Amino acid sequence: MQTKESEPRRYLVSIDTVSIQQIFTDCVVIGGGIAGLRASIEAAQNCNVSLVCKGTFQSSNTWNAQGGIASVLGADDSLAEHVGDTLATGCGICDKEIVELVVSRGPGLIHQLAEWGTEFDKVNGQIDISLEGGHSHARVAHAHGDSTGSVIAEALIRKVRQTAGVNIIENFYVIDIITNNDNECIGVIGCGQGGGFQIIWAASTILATGGAGMLYRETTNPEVATADGIAMAYRAGAVLQDMEFVQFHPTTLYVAGASRALITETLRGEGAILLDSENKRFMTDYHKAAELAPRDVVSRAILDRMLKTGSTHVYLDIRHFDKKHFSRRFPFISELCESFDIDVSKDLIPVRPSAHYMIGGVKTDAGSQTNIKGLYACGEVASTGLHGANRLGSNSLLEGLVFGKIAGRASSLRLEAGVNHLRHHRIKYEIPRSDRSRLDASDVTNSLRALMWRNVGITRKAHLLVEAQEIIRFWQRYVMDKVFDSPFGWECQNMLTASLLIAQSAEKRKESRGVHYREDFPETNDEHFGKHIELSR
Ligand code: FUM
Repeated sequence: MQTKESEPRRYLVSIDTVSIQQIFTDCVVIGGGIAGLRASIEAAQNCNVSLVCKGTFQSSNTWNAQGGIASVLGADDSLAEHVGDTLATGCGICDKEIVELVVSRGPGLIHQLAEWGTEFDKVNGQIDISLEGGHSHARVAHAHGDSTGSVIAEALIRKVRQTAGVNIIENFYVIDIITNNDNECIGVIGCGQGGGFQIIWAASTILATGGAGMLYRETTNPEVATADGIAMAYRAGAVLQDMEFVQFHPTTLYVAGASRALITETLRGEGAILLDSENKRFMTDYHKAAELAPRDVVSRAILDRMLKTGSTHVYLDIRHFDKKHFSRRFPFISELCESFDIDVSKDLIPVRPSAHYMIGGVKTDAGSQTNIKGLYACGEVASTGLHGANRLGSNSLLEGLVFGKIAGRASSLRLEAGVNHLRHHRIKYEIPRSDRSRLDASDVTNSLRALMWRNVGITRKAHLLVEAQEIIRFWQRYVMDKVFDSPFGWECQNMLTASLLIAQSAEKRKESRGVHYREDFPETNDEHFGKHIELSR
């Protein structure tokens, strides 16, 4: 099959169903973060589920989430105000119906998480809620301080393991979703730990593959976040939207050579201040809310200070914090700093911004349905319209929880509608041998991440976005025509695909809005760009 050079092939590997091991399930869920776990529990009420994840449950973004989960839990708060804050942060392009849906389902699902064993931090027997940037009320719940994600995930994993009809397959890399000629998803092809290919035929497929932080040299994300779900959905013909909106987190630990660990924004919520390398507090010069300004404003201010002072980082100052309270409230960061010999009562914490959250992704409706029949998406891989052009802090775990349940239910209803899926399909897809010389995939991956950081990062301008696309297309010529036999090569191909789509969307949006800042178009242009940008093959 001939495709344009910049277009990926339909599948990354040759497929001949005669010679591949095959299993059948009603619903296959790809991803073991909050959305995939919640979807599996829900779908299993009505059908059999295979829950596959690329690594272990501990390798997801959910597991690593420090910040909490936002919802209306306080007596003085209201759904209307949470909706209003989400819309205001999203800079005019949130889908209001989706915002109302997510916000209204939040409190019930959070109480259900508590019933399932999530030990949320409490005061006087009630879930303790804190105030964070962009929220007009205290409404962010934490669990074990800065270990919220892993505590929620542990409760969901326990629940999944107790739920009859869920078959858990960890360390299974899904290479592609399989579609028929009717624009219908009929299963997935993947590769297990032993190395052999396997097809899982299913009546419904739920993509919950998480984010894309690894596209950038600097990221808070775990190594699994290589945009696989976005790339495989695109190959299958799914519509993507909002790909230009990548959220950067202002404060990740900067110790040369160490991976970039998130230093939660809750610290700034509790009084941490930012100092530049000349010991000057600078956020007051950039925004009236100083350290509590929106994330994109803080990230750009830090970059500006780094440039002006010629430094690789700035500092977070929490020397005035009570040390005991700090280690109780932020056990993860406390241990992290200790492991680098940073005594937070005397030393400043070196930080700089990093790629954090992919707002764009696979376009879904209020029922988590994509434009491909039988294919649902939820969590970070999906673009529901909740976040608009900027995500309100702690709304992402909420979105994964709400849409995980919706996707699980919708996929099981498809089965009730009588889809006949317990049959073999004959698929033969052959990829001709490439005679182009081979590029070193690890070298391409590292260079790509540096290019994305430099050209498609926190601030953008036309010629750098165009240059990025040219370079990515050049690499694609040598990488996309190869057939790899291990996740590293497939990830490299997926990262090239997703990076190009981000650069293309960022070039198309000739304005600044939310997390997308164009130096050459610093104003917001509602007339031309007050809408989503969609991409499909
Ligand atoms: O800073 C944080 O704890 C991040 C929270 C979030 O991304 O929602």
